[in-house]
Amino acid sequence: MAYDDRDLSALRDVCDPKAVVPEDQHAPFLEEWRGRWPGQTPLILAPSSTAELSQIMSAAYERDIAIVPQGGNTGLVGGGVARGEVIITTKRLRAVRNISAEGFTMTLEAGVTLAEAQGHAADVDRLFPLSIGAEGTANIGGVLSTNAGGVHVLRYGNARDLVLGLEAVLPDGRIWNGLNALRKNNTGYDLKHLFMGGEGTLGIITAAVLKLYPRPRDHLTAFLAVPSADAAVKLLSMAQARSGGQLGSFELMGGPMLDLVLEKFPELSHPVDQQTPYYVLAEFASGQQGALRAMAEGILEAAFEEGLVVDGTIAADGKQSDALWELRHRATEAMKKDTSPCVKCDISVPIAAIPDFLQQADDVVHGMEPGARIIAFGHMGDGNIHYDILGPVNGDHDTFRGRMAEFEHRVHDVTVALDGSISAEHGIGQLKRDELETRKDPVELDLMRTIKRSLDPKRLMNPGKLLNL
Ligand code: FAD
Ligand code: LAC
Ligand code: ZN
Repeated sequence: MAYDDRDLSALRDVCDPKAVVPEDQHAPFLEEWRGRWPGQTPLILAPSSTAELSQIMSAAYERDIAIVPQGGNTGLVGGGVARGEVIITTKRLRAVRNISAEGFTMTLEAGVTLAEAQGHAADVDRLFPLSIGAEGTANIGGVLSTNAGGVHVLRYGNARDLVLGLEAVLPDGRIWNGLNALRKNNTGYDLKHLFMGGEGTLGIITAAVLKLYPRPRDHLTAFLAVPSADAAVKLLSMAQARSGGQLGSFELMGGPMLDLVLEKFPELSHPVDQQTPYYVLAEFASGQQGALRAMAEGILEAAFEEGLVVDGTIAADGKQSDALWELRHRATEAMKKDTSPCVKCDISVPIAAIPDFLQQADDVVHGMEPGARIIAFGHMGDGNIHYDILGPVNGDHDTFRGRMAEFEHRVHDVTVALDGSISAEHGIGQLKRDELETRKDPVELDLMRTIKRSLDPKRLMNPGKLLNL
């Protein structure tokens, strides 16, 4: 894909010179987080308003110039990588348009980072619950267009569940104003859900009305050593049933994942004495001060008695809680620090099927390569396991790299046989685009293509991502 410089100049001409990112500042937009897909672009534009973005899009539409939207560039499936297209970054769409503590909503532009969004909510004593490891960099446009999940889905849902209204610029430059703050609105197709999970293939999200929640007054974090994945599922069920909806996170960590984090981040330490195949990080939250400890201790006592937990610790304060969360959040960075290539499977299965998934996937992977290091962890409360595979220590990286697609495919076979999904929360991007063809219901794929053709008839939005056309 190569564009005539006159056409590119037409795009530059419709925006403020400040919106043109100088070439010597292109590098961060071309480096994908995993270093797996190299980026290439003739032009990067950073509009500072929806109107400016609309003018750029309309000029691009007129000249058949393809666009890749980019937010914080933390996506893990290669969705924001440009391969010759013009990049539009939302990083200068930074306005806080409205915050209503009374209405429990806030309206933010796409370039506000997720951590900033949480901060804006906290400033008015409210909670914006979406939380992911990359929240310091990922932004509202990015998390909504990938329908990000994270560690609070169990209680508050995925990104799409936290949105009341949306504004987006369509491929032809038109602005769709769907920015309402209504909790009930049955007036036909709910179009915002096309853009959430659309991964930038239908338009660019520019602002959203987000739901806020009461801020919990008390938190309790427990790190628990469990004898098996089966015990972890039973523990989850017990904790949910006995905590009256106060279980906010239930994260699973495989022993090898914890070992890898401790190896790559020696400043962190193992929180319990017993070594078990799996560990659980559970967090409870309540609107009432001091209500959690007795309840959590009751649950843990029963769990110890039933043999579901063999060791554990409860964080005494916020600092200890943060230290326990570090162990969980550092997983992806720890794998990045390893020299081996990494197969990343982000799957979901019905919660009760997680032990079967782990057992069967482990058998398949170790059958293919006995030395493969299985780094399994994730949002067990949502049935979502990040099942990542590193090559053997001191193994031949080229040989392993050559088999990555096969590993992925075989793990997905196990997933699908258990009625699961090959992408729980990271999306499709370019990583899983071809595989989606073979895994998704053909009628659904056909409907998705019909929608894509109708909104983006010239196929200019994020081409080659999500769907084969
Ligand atoms: P980008 O990476 O910039 O873009 C992602 C996709 O959205 C691309 O296809 C891009 O074209 C499109 N896009 C970006 N902005 C817009 C827009 N305004 N309009 C339309 N399309 C747009 N994900 C989870 O779900 N849960 C996690 O717990 C989680 N943890 C992570 C931890 C780490 C350490 C890392 C590196 C990633 C993690 N992720 C997680 C993945 C990633 O952070 C999310 O996918 C996030 O939502 C991406 O946001 P972003 O702003 O970086 O988007
Ligand atoms: C996490 C990312 C990888 O949960 O989704 O850490
Ligand atoms: Zn995750």
